[in-house]
Amino acid sequence: MLDVLRIRKDFPMYENNPNMIYLDNGATSLKPKCVIDKMNEYYNNYGVNIHRGVYKLSYDATEMYDLARDTVKEFINAKASSEIIFVRNSSEALNLACLTYGRQKLKKGDVIVTSELEHHSSFLPWLNLSKELGLEIRFIPLDKDSRITVENFKKVLDDKVKVVAINYFSNVMGYRSPVEEIVELTHKVGGIVILDAAQAVAHTKVDVQKLDCDFLAFSSHKMMGPTGVGVLFGKKNILKSLKPLYYGGDMNEEVSKTSCEVKEAPWGFETGTPAIAEVIGLMEAINYIKKIGYDNIHKHSFELYDYTINQLKKLDGITIYNINPELPIISFNINNVHPHDAATIFDEAGVCLRAGHHCAQLLTKHLNVLGTLRGSFYIYNDYHDCDVFINKIKEAIDFFKKYNL
Ligand code: ALA
Repeated sequence: MLDVLRIRKDFPMYENNPNMIYLDNGATSLKPKCVIDKMNEYYNNYGVNIHRGVYKLSYDATEMYDLARDTVKEFINAKASSEIIFVRNSSEALNLACLTYGRQKLKKGDVIVTSELEHHSSFLPWLNLSKELGLEIRFIPLDKDSRITVENFKKVLDDKVKVVAINYFSNVMGYRSPVEEIVELTHKVGGIVILDAAQAVAHTKVDVQKLDCDFLAFSSHKMMGPTGVGVLFGKKNILKSLKPLYYGGDMNEEVSKTSCEVKEAPWGFETGTPAIAEVIGLMEAINYIKKIGYDNIHKHSFELYDYTINQLKKLDGITIYNINPELPIISFNINNVHPHDAATIFDEAGVCLRAGHHCAQLLTKHLNVLGTLRGSFYIYNDYHDCDVFINKIKEAIDFFKKYNL
């Protein structure tokens, strides 16, 4: 176990909400003070624009922004910093990939492969583009545990497949998709793979060279960084072949009445003043994660997950939907109770959970439920959190049984 008492001292949210049982880490993580301080340091000391001023403060801001990009490059083991595009969040990153690569490279009849396990951000951009261009969308059949498998992926793969858009880890089930095999098979038929790594970055080392994916998206706020910044990784040769989505400030070299010479990636894709403080905050979050270490994060979160799931498995009156997940997530329902109704009982005790469809309505439809309750663990959780969570579940089962609700 990590020393949670010490770790919590890094998170002002605990000081200000001493009774909080925060188990909504799948939605967003809490932010350590060092990240907040790093952003304030920018605003207090060198809070000017990047790439524009010919004065020292602007050079300082630009240098920190560029250092953040190099830090992200190293964090996900990209080949070059120019493969890192800063955007607002994973959703924007996945839309950017779809609305540049998809719109510029695909034509009527081309096939997109995705799954019912997707967050809306991984699926909806393609649904929308499929209507515009006449693309076909195929879904990888999920297995009995609602997992993506290589065997089932092969069933929908042929040489009409141009894009595979799937999650690296599911935000509802915590399952890891077999992405290495899927990438290899997709490349063999001439397609590309776009990975939604929003849930991955908080828990595991992401290595884009090992994965060999073509695009990968993640958000800073899920990994203890600020909201308002995310990353789209794209392979250099692919980015080079694409036109930008947005035109305006800072993305061009030369503008005339009839033409615009676009900067190369990543700058051509980052139009206007970016979220400078947030990008610098993301760099600090990466440093914080490195200090804790992914092995420790994994071990700690799974000790809590195992402790909790072993007790929940003994209970009558709940259904748990995800089996042996690779992320410390429990998706469940109190039988015959709407997750929003159940959530009120948890809220009364200060337990923060997510309840609903988790922006993954294809999955809730697949599971044939209105939604689920989702608890997810991270480095600042402890056994007391688990005990309160388990006891509240028992209470909720008894309460709804008693009143026959
Ligand atoms: N995508 C986030 C979640 O899964 C918000 O809860």
